[in-house]
Amino acid sequence: MSEIESRLIENRVFFPNADFAKNAKLSDMSEYMAMCQLSNEGYEQFWAELAREFLIWHSPFTSILNDQNPPFYRWFEDGMLNASYNCIDRHVRSGNGDKVALVFESDDGKIEKVSYKTLLVKVCKFANALIRKGYKKGDRAIIYMPMSIEGVVSMQACARLGITHSVVFGGFSAKSLEERIIDVGAKLIITADVQVRGGKNIPLKKAVDEALTGEASKIVKDVIVYRRTGIEIEMSPRDVFLDEIIESEEDYCEPVYVESEHPLFVLYTSGSTGRPKGIQHSTGGYLLHSALTMFYTFDIKPDDIFWCTADIGWITGHTYVAYGPLATGNTQIIFEGVPTFPDAGRFWQMIEKHGVSIFYTAPTAIRALIKASSLNQRVAPENYNLKSLRLLGTVGEPINPEAWVWYYKNVGGSRCPIVDTFWQTETGGHVITPMPGATPLIPGSCTLPFPGIDAAVVDETGQELPNGKGGMLVIRKPWPSMIRTIWGDAERFKKTYFPKELGGKFYLAGDGSIRDEKNGYFTIMGRIDDVLNISGHRLGTMEIESALVAYEDVAEAAVVGKPDEVTGESIVAFVVLKSKRPENVKEISEKAKVLQNWVAKEIGPIAKPKEIRFGDNLPKTRSGKIMRRLLRALAKGEKIQQDVSTLENPAILEQLSGT
Ligand code: PRX
Repeated sequence: MSEIESRLIENRVFFPNADFAKNAKLSDMSEYMAMCQLSNEGYEQFWAELAREFLIWHSPFTSILNDQNPPFYRWFEDGMLNASYNCIDRHVRSGNGDKVALVFESDDGKIEKVSYKTLLVKVCKFANALIRKGYKKGDRAIIYMPMSIEGVVSMQACARLGITHSVVFGGFSAKSLEERIIDVGAKLIITADVQVRGGKNIPLKKAVDEALTGEASKIVKDVIVYRRTGIEIEMSPRDVFLDEIIESEEDYCEPVYVESEHPLFVLYTSGSTGRPKGIQHSTGGYLLHSALTMFYTFDIKPDDIFWCTADIGWITGHTYVAYGPLATGNTQIIFEGVPTFPDAGRFWQMIEKHGVSIFYTAPTAIRALIKASSLNQRVAPENYNLKSLRLLGTVGEPINPEAWVWYYKNVGGSRCPIVDTFWQTETGGHVITPMPGATPLIPGSCTLPFPGIDAAVVDETGQELPNGKGGMLVIRKPWPSMIRTIWGDAERFKKTYFPKELGGKFYLAGDGSIRDEKNGYFTIMGRIDDVLNISGHRLGTMEIESALVAYEDVAEAAVVGKPDEVTGESIVAFVVLKSKRPENVKEISEKAKVLQNWVAKEIGPIAKPKEIRFGDNLPKTRSGKIMRRLLRALAKGEKIQQDVSTLENPAILEQLSGT
């Protein structure tokens, strides 16, 4: 509760800077309200007009929203379009072909710029190579690539042909990759020899080979390998090098126009069960919100240099790297490396070097950089010229007000608004966010819904709660960029996101939220399900538990989150071994290391528990239910206040207390 209370007493208000507001799309709250009112008065018409304004339709839609079969909503369903045409060709056709689309900076600081015209050629050559290999609309491809021009080109080439892509973050293990290949039924994998991060080569192709040793190998027909460094790798008859297959391909490839509802991509994310969910997005509705939020939330202008630091393996890297900034025809930075290499001044140095005007990153990075600059003044943002910045953004997790204010003052020079954007893999783009020229900002609050998004805080029965009362965050009306289904599991989609208790029509975000009594601003209180947020990355506790119990010596495991200064939350695992419980410090740390590495291998290094505690048992009720609330308290080192006499084994608490 202390976290919630501390946010509630936050009363600093930062008004939009007058210069910024003067030139902004929405210059004050009355303009924001007018847009909201427009959406209230004619909900479908509101979205239809935006869809006509922001996207180029090959054949126009006549149906706006088909809500005959909730929650399987369909938007603009008889319209046809192509995402890659909307992101690239349209700008070339309108005379902006020479404008720089991508500025790539490698881990070691090399720069490559790609114009819209060149991007079109790259995407077309790749698409032609895919056609030659027999791929077509409706096929699925897994993309397991580093942050690179080729990563974006792969996504765009799939989109050009109506191939549904599923990008797997390069930090996920071979096992995670294998599960996703099987679930999505991908015949094609696009990968690289390695990815380079923080001066190290991390093998990708090797993980693909490992993923293709079992069932997945029967599904996959082709593996296309981008040579990032050209180091020697093993190639099997199914593997080909990207540079070789595109070499003699034509520079132009006709886009394949698809129905608006055609799945542009499936992106896996964690939920409250052990199995990640393949979140399926549409083409038209998704692309609309990508472009729209670039325009309104980021107030993007033709000359802006936009930099979203997210990896293409996450939703943020889809919407605000691979699609959004291209849909609006802007120039963006793509960064291969990490914020702390060669030192923690890298972001600031890059902002200065490239003249970045809009910078979008995660609170965890901000907190890590605050810490780094407090330890080493030389990497602090004040040592760099950050005058080019005009707008800052954050995403992925709640930002604590102190980090917000630091970001505002030290990075934004107290002149740049900060858009704290709340959204999710499932929402496709921002759903609650300030409008930077209009919304007065309160640190720690994502403020108000994007116009047209009917967000509310409700109780377990779906009843709206008054401001000042915490409850569940829902969105009450369908919107164009919403999740369409869980790939291959429509039932789970319905149950998870549109529960019967809420009438089956409200989208349940899975976050707790509270609205401010005075101004109705939303504050996100964190997940209400068993999902953790580690450095802005979503991980299900069940997923980590399943990984742990898959280890031969583990009898039982329970995973909880614990607040962490830098990563927001960290993972604490309580483990019961089949063999004897390790007792001395050396045994404990050795066993913990083995299990940490095991989880890294099963899921990926991001899922490694920071701390593992061993016990002879876990605290359970007499009916055998694990008392997670107690485990959370133990992880935090809190004193157990509640009566534990109903526990089957109260003595176990002492053993698991970690002292
Ligand atoms: O808990 C919320 C948190 O991140 C979750 C969504 O995670 P994911 O699907 O991986 O997408 C992250 C990038 C969009 C949410 O359920 N979250 C995201 N943005 C914010 C946030 N929590 C608080 N404030 C935010 N701005």
